[in-house]
Amino acid sequence: MNVEPLTGVLGARIFGLDLTCLSSQQAADLRHEVCRHQVVVIPEQALSPAQQTAFSHQLGPFSPVPFVEPLAGFPEVISVVKEAFEPNAFNFGGVWHSDFSFLESPPAFTILHAIDVPGVGGDTVWSSMTAAWEALTSDQQERFAEITAVHSASASYSPAQQALHSGLSSMDIRTSDDAQATQEHPLVCTHLETGEQTLFFNGTYVRSLRGSDLDSPAAVEKTLHWLHQWTTHVRFTFRHRWRNGDVVIWDNRSTQHVALNDYPGQRRQLHRTTVAGTPPNK
Ligand code: SIN
Repeated sequence: MNVEPLTGVLGARIFGLDLTCLSSQQAADLRHEVCRHQVVVIPEQALSPAQQTAFSHQLGPFSPVPFVEPLAGFPEVISVVKEAFEPNAFNFGGVWHSDFSFLESPPAFTILHAIDVPGVGGDTVWSSMTAAWEALTSDQQERFAEITAVHSASASYSPAQQALHSGLSSMDIRTSDDAQATQEHPLVCTHLETGEQTLFFNGTYVRSLRGSDLDSPAAVEKTLHWLHQWTTHVRFTFRHRWRNGDVVIWDNRSTQHVALNDYPGQRRQLHRTTVAGTPPNK
C-alpha cells in the first residue's frame, strides 16, 4: 500500500487497496496506518453495506450505535443523510465531537463511505488530540493530567432535541432520557496502540470536569471553553473534501471531528460503521 501524508500533523491518503478483499496482513497494516496518521482516506472504493460491514470486522468487532436506527437489513451500518430539500439549520455530526465518547467503551474507529456527496461543500474536519496535547506547556499538561471528564449525550440525544433530529427525514434518530446518563473518562489518556498521550475531550459530549482546582461551576465552564477553543484550533486540523467512493477511517481515541453544513440545496449521503474500542485509560 502506498501512503501519502496530507498535512504535517494528521491525515494520509492510501492508494493500492481494494477494501472488498483485504488480506489479514493488509488489514493489520491498515489499522497501524490509521493509528499513526489518525485519519486515512482511501479513494475509489465501491462497498455495498454488506461489504462495508465485512471490512469493518477486519478492523475489529462492531461498536453499538445508540439513538440512531441502522440501515434496514444491515444492523451495523447507519446512513448519514441530509436531503437537498432539508433546512440548513441542522446536520448530523455538525458540532465538534468524538463518536459516542459517552459510552464506557467508546468506538476505536469510525469508517465513513461516501455514497452521494455534494459537488462542493459538506467537507469533514478532524483535529488531532495528540497534537493538541503535545503543544501544551508542561504546567498545563500536569494540570490536565489530574482532571476527570464527565461525558454525556444529554445535549445531543435528550427528548428536547427530537425535533431537530426529526428534521432529517432520511435518518431515524430516537432521542431518549437515557441520554442523561454520565460516564467518566480521564481527560488525558494513553492510546492503547501507539502509547501516545492524548486529550480525550470534545465540547459536545464532555459536559463537566472534576479536578482539585475546579471548585466552582464558573471554573469548570471556563476550562471547558478553553479546552474547546484549544483543541479545535486550525493548526491541529485536517479537512477532507469528499468524492463519491471515498472511504475515510479515523481513530476516535486521538481525534475529534465536525461535518460542515455548507451545502444548501444539495444531497449528502455516507454510510458509517464503527469498530469497538476499550475503556479509555490514563
Ligand atoms: C459523523 O460525525 O459521524 C458524521 C461525519 C460526517 O458526516 O462527515
